[in-house]
Amino acid sequence: MRVLVTGGAGFIGANFVLRTLEQRPDVEITVLDKLTYAANPSTLATLGERISLVEGDVADAVIVDRLVADHDLVVHFAAESHNDNSLADPSQFVHTNLVGTYTLLEAVRAHGVRYHHISTDEVYGDLELDDPGRFTEATPYNPSSPYSSTKAGSDLLVRAWVRSFGLRATISNCSNNYGPYQHVEKFIPRQITNVLNGIRPRLYGDGRNVRDWIHVDDHNDAVWAIIDRGEIGETYLIGADGEVDNRTVVETILEVLGQPADAFDFVTDRPGHDRRYAIDSTRLRTELGWQPSYLDFRAGLSATVDWYRDNTEWWQQTKVGVEQGYAATEKVIG
Ligand code: NAD
Ligand code: DAU
Repeated sequence: MRVLVTGGAGFIGANFVLRTLEQRPDVEITVLDKLTYAANPSTLATLGERISLVEGDVADAVIVDRLVADHDLVVHFAAESHNDNSLADPSQFVHTNLVGTYTLLEAVRAHGVRYHHISTDEVYGDLELDDPGRFTEATPYNPSSPYSSTKAGSDLLVRAWVRSFGLRATISNCSNNYGPYQHVEKFIPRQITNVLNGIRPRLYGDGRNVRDWIHVDDHNDAVWAIIDRGEIGETYLIGADGEVDNRTVVETILEVLGQPADAFDFVTDRPGHDRRYAIDSTRLRTELGWQPSYLDFRAGLSATVDWYRDNTEWWQQTKVGVEQGYAATEKVIG
């Protein structure tokens, strides 16, 4: 089976490639990646003959058409993925997330190739902290940020291409991922590498915002379950019942690294900051038989701390620039 993985040099895509090569000897992979600031091709450097890396833009119709024609399956991870960046400059988000997805869909339509679309729970907006509800496949779209609105738009393009053109596509909307190879701009790796570098962790606002954490391997196993057994045209929510507030995450990282639990700062809040995400993944579990393997968040987080401590060469070069970028806008408020 020949699989085209877009965004395979980024966090989730690279973990998907590593796990797939390990678990599926019949699969050959081509990664199409623009190698933006978010990519780290060193993650894929020593993977051997069953993988090739093409540097290119998913919005480049010539490259995309040529590659799609030569594959049995497209798994589309490539995106501009960071909310804070989308608030500073949305233009690349529109280009990659909307125009890039459109370009892939047209190629997949032309060549009749199976397509799986990776998306986010953020398309549903947010929940109050005391809301007993969770997102389901029937929750109306209500995105808050330039990032989540472009992801929502990309999902709707996929749905339209399924209905209007009979595309063989599925969609998954997953909650917040953690694990190895995540860029240090993101919350968990930022705070781990802050502590490792002697910088105090930074909590936006009151630190009470809740995210529904899932290990990246559980996400990617769910993606394969949907590719293997999902119903064409359908959407599946992926989540592992991992709701934790941001302050608790930081306190756990500090504890794991042997620091006082209050050794962090509150900084200016993110504009439009979504309060809480929570996924009901009943459909994925009952219809496709998927179950998460990482059931203990503290243990998974501790293993992730170990990974960043043992792989400083993977992240240290990008760390200074990321912190300089944050310092330009955030102020300590408590
Ligand atoms: P990431 O930012 O770590 O990686 C994105 C990758 O896409 C990078 O390698 C980058 O170079 C590549 N890319 C960006 N623009 C491109 C373009 N125009 N053409 C080709 N490649 C391009 O992102 P991630 O966290 O791994 O997220 C992957 C996907 O999963 C995204 O679609 C995101 O919306 C979705 N998602 C992420 C999470 C999460 O918690 N990180 C949760 C749910 C869904
Ligand atoms: O829910 C899925 C989404 O999760 C994905 O679609 C996105 O691609 C991914 O980036 C992530 O979005 P978030 O905005 O939730 O993730 P981020 O890591 O930026 O922030 C997580 C939470 O931590 C959020 O409430 C903001 C907060 N935060 C973040 C940073 C970087 C802080 O308190 N301090 C920080 O320094």
